[in-house]
Amino acid sequence: MKIDAGSETCLHNLLYSLYGNYKKSIFEPLSANEMTHSYIQTHQDRFLAELFDLLRIPSVSADSKHKPDVRKAAEYVIQKLKDAGADKVELCETKGHPIVYGEKMIDPSKPTVLVYGHYDVQPADPLNLWDSPAFEPVVKDGKIYARGSCDDKGQMYMHIKAFEAMMKLNQLSCNVKFMIEGEEEVGSDNLGTFVKENKAKLKADVILISDTSLISLDTPSITVGLRGLSYMEVEVTGPNRDLHSGVYGGAVANPINVLSEMIASMHDKNGRITIPGFYDKVAELTAEERKALNKAPFNLDEYKKELAIDDVKGEVGYTTLERTGTRPTLDVNGIWGGYTGEGAKTVLPSKASAKISMRLVPNQNSTEITDLFTKHFQSIAPKSVKVKVTAHHGGEPAVTPTNSKAFHAASSAFEEVWGKAPIPTRDGGSIPIVSLFKKELGLDTVLMGFGLDSDAIHSPNEHYGIKNFLIGIETIVAFYKHYSK
Ligand code: BES
Ligand code: MN
Ligand code: MN
Repeated sequence: MKIDAGSETCLHNLLYSLYGNYKKSIFEPLSANEMTHSYIQTHQDRFLAELFDLLRIPSVSADSKHKPDVRKAAEYVIQKLKDAGADKVELCETKGHPIVYGEKMIDPSKPTVLVYGHYDVQPADPLNLWDSPAFEPVVKDGKIYARGSCDDKGQMYMHIKAFEAMMKLNQLSCNVKFMIEGEEEVGSDNLGTFVKENKAKLKADVILISDTSLISLDTPSITVGLRGLSYMEVEVTGPNRDLHSGVYGGAVANPINVLSEMIASMHDKNGRITIPGFYDKVAELTAEERKALNKAPFNLDEYKKELAIDDVKGEVGYTTLERTGTRPTLDVNGIWGGYTGEGAKTVLPSKASAKISMRLVPNQNSTEITDLFTKHFQSIAPKSVKVKVTAHHGGEPAVTPTNSKAFHAASSAFEEVWGKAPIPTRDGGSIPIVSLFKKELGLDTVLMGFGLDSDAIHSPNEHYGIKNFLIGIETIVAFYKHYSK
């Protein structure tokens, strides 16, 4: 019988699933990678079905109405960690949503990898902009559409399946700990306390996280920088009640007009933030670092096309990659006040509010920036209004080393599975726990994310490629192999 390459793989997979340790031929045993690849192929339908069950749980951490769902998701993760072979799996209560912990210690003399991820998701609003319901996952064009499919349930679940594969194939060659939290999307308020109180339990050699993006499926990358965050809320109050805009208009400060002016004044014509001292601690990249960063493939036309914009906008003198990866920002996330109902109501509102976030870069500090913002915002308020400034969560920026054993292992894993060396990149998003791990546990993080910027995380129609999910599992297994060498 003549067997072509495709049917040979099929046959091989069939035999593999039947006999487990079946060998390709009696002369040629399967390599560890081939075993992993085959295991993932054989079990991919179940892996996806399990992920879908997790995606169906609306674990929105920001919404108290979903508190029971957040716990349900934690319990689901617990079950799956146990099924995969983890020990000491437990639900750790916090003042907020629970943290899931589990481990597999094979030998205390071997290194330990601490996997961090989050099972909570962003709210799905605005619901009417989803093509299919946010918590009813569907596959379209090879992508899983659901809230959390990429951020971070899909990416976190790759680690549980990679662990399962290593356990089943007897390949686990170092110790693993899992810490999966349920409050990442609301600022990880209780994770810091948990880390500080459980230093012995969390003792490890490196942190491994998949919660960032790749350049593309053709160009693998490893994230080596994340921005920090200061998130503020401001309220501007004018008169003691809403007024008739004809009777009082022109004579009394309109808080929405004033707030708009104040916000507009916080950028100059070069797109720089005008808060005094804001840039004092910003680490400027060297010419070499900038050159290296801009070597990453990036197509501005495609970028604009994908977002349906005719032009980009940002700080003068920096490329788009530099603007998102290395420069701080100030953005209004929401603004409200006055009459927004149907029709027209002539009203001069009493109050106006806005939520404003600042993305931070090394070596800015979120507490200092929060302070600078507060002082500045108060100082630019005209006497005709009163302002109230409150701080929401914050987080510190992070850069991760590229000369560590763990980074080299991640790099080798990509080379082996993708046939290409990954490019180090800086992402614009924030994962505040990364700097906290460094500070509290003294540990560096490897950010091995498999999402794409176009996956629409936090947006309607969030999705995650099945290819990304499957190749991610394989790359994670390869990481362990190289790391424990
Ligand atoms: N996974 C994201 C962060 C991210 C996304 C990093 C893409 C790099 C690339 C994370 O879940 C997130 O959304 N973080 C928040 C911050 C948090 C404090 C609410 C963010 O970046 O807005
Ligand atoms: Mn995330
Ligand atoms: Mn997120």
